Amino acid sequence: MPVISWRDQMSLDYPPLDDEHKAFLEVVNQATRDLHEHNLPGIDAMFEACYDYVRNHFSLEEDVMERINFPDIDAHVAAHQQFIQNIAEFRQAYEQAATKGKKIDIAQKTVAFLSVWIIGHIISRDKMLKPYLVRLRNLPPRMSY
Ligand SMILES: [Fe+2]
Ligand SMILES: [Fe+2]
Repeated sequence: MPVISWRDQMSLDYPPLDDEHKAFLEVVNQATRDLHEHNLPGIDAMFEACYDYVRNHFSLEEDVMERINFPDIDAHVAAHQQFIQNIAEFRQAYEQAATKGKKIDIAQKTVAFLSVWIIGHIISRDKMLKPYLVRLRNLPPRMSY
């Protein structure tokens, strides 16, 4: 897989989300390098980073969508859920693979999936938040009780 570069087209002009998207692109790029070297501990780290991304990034993004009253939130959350399911299936197949060759084969499929998914999701779905994110600038800071 080629290394993915950040493009302005991916920007939401909202650094809390943009920075996490950039960090996840780097996770995918690092996994691509690890695959070239058949570095399985690197691939294990990629799966862990996927779970971190799902836990931290999706919850932040879904919280932001609620705050800005994003109208298409249900379909977007469903896309996140589908991704969680995909990753769980790749992880299970990877864990169950009996040989290093099979693990590398599954890791290749996983990295190919991630490379396509992350760009497609940012450009087609996350990008839809951009016009609504200006509302955040006009809201008071979030309070917790
Ligand atoms: Fe998203
Ligand atoms: Fe996102």
